[in-house]
Amino acid sequence: MEFIKLNKAYAEHVALIELNRPKELNALNLQLMGELRDALQELDKTDEVRVIIVTGNERAFAAGADIKQMADNNAIDMLMIDQFSTWDQIRKTKKPVIAAVSGFALGGGCELAMTCDMIIASETAKFGQPEIKIGVTPGAGGTQRLTKAIGKARAMEMVLTGKFISAEEALSFGLINKVVPVEMYLQEALKLALEIASMSPVAVQLAKESVNRSFETHLDEGLHFERKNFYLTFASEDQTEGMNAFVEKRKANYKGK
Ligand code: CAA
Repeated sequence: MEFIKLNKAYAEHVALIELNRPKELNALNLQLMGELRDALQELDKTDEVRVIIVTGNERAFAAGADIKQMADNNAIDMLMIDQFSTWDQIRKTKKPVIAAVSGFALGGGCELAMTCDMIIASETAKFGQPEIKIGVTPGAGGTQRLTKAIGKARAMEMVLTGKFISAEEALSFGLINKVVPVEMYLQEALKLALEIASMSPVAVQLAKESVNRSFETHLDEGLHFERKNFYLTFASEDQTEGMNAFVEKRKANYKGK
């Protein structure tokens, strides 16, 4: 791994992935995205890991897809390179992924944060889809996820002007979960990760799948999907443990079975 750092045992049941191209503000070149995909797939298969944090550094989460790598491509090059198939695989990560964002989260960087399940940001974070300024449009979900998260009017303004929004604005628009001082954003992401890691991994995985389904389907089908996953949790030992622990007024000890 050249462009990411992977710590499988960052904390109990929590893994950390750091994007690591600091000089290029973590611009997302093809190799970095491939490494990220491989790491997430590996963590999905690692029983010990229940929650994954993806972060950058204080200056940049990621300043977008690597413009220098794409600049000379034509449409057919882009079609054949098919960079977004890697993003599709990342989107299929089964375990919860928390983005811990400081500094720039722009273009593909904003899209990557939105591909994660939750976003914890530092006060210095800046979110934006500035592709319009370089003569292109967002390509990794920016027009879709941003619009669903913050509504048409705000998304349209961001996408058509390329202007950045602050972490506070992102919070008030419903794009992110929490804003904290810069020295605490990773700590805060870990706190959230540990809370989720204390739940039944079976139920967490099914719940994530059900929430995501709401983006991809109409209400009737989504409710049907949710109901089946709810019933499926009753096939797990964790369901028995969780409900018994409630009845017996003790803390549940989940095994992921
Ligand atoms: N691709 C490639 N290199 C990038 C980059 C990117 N997206 N963003 C920054 N860099 C590089 C810069 O070229 C520079 O490299 P050199 O030192 O070799 O010149 C280095 O990172 C530091 O950047 P700056 O000197 O520009 O730093 P700054 O503080 O003055 O500005 C910034 C920071 C506002 C983020 C500015 O770098 C910028 O506007 N970056 C581009 C943002 C952008 O347009 N992102 C969208 C990309 S397209 C996309 O993402 C498509 C998609 O949907 C997938």
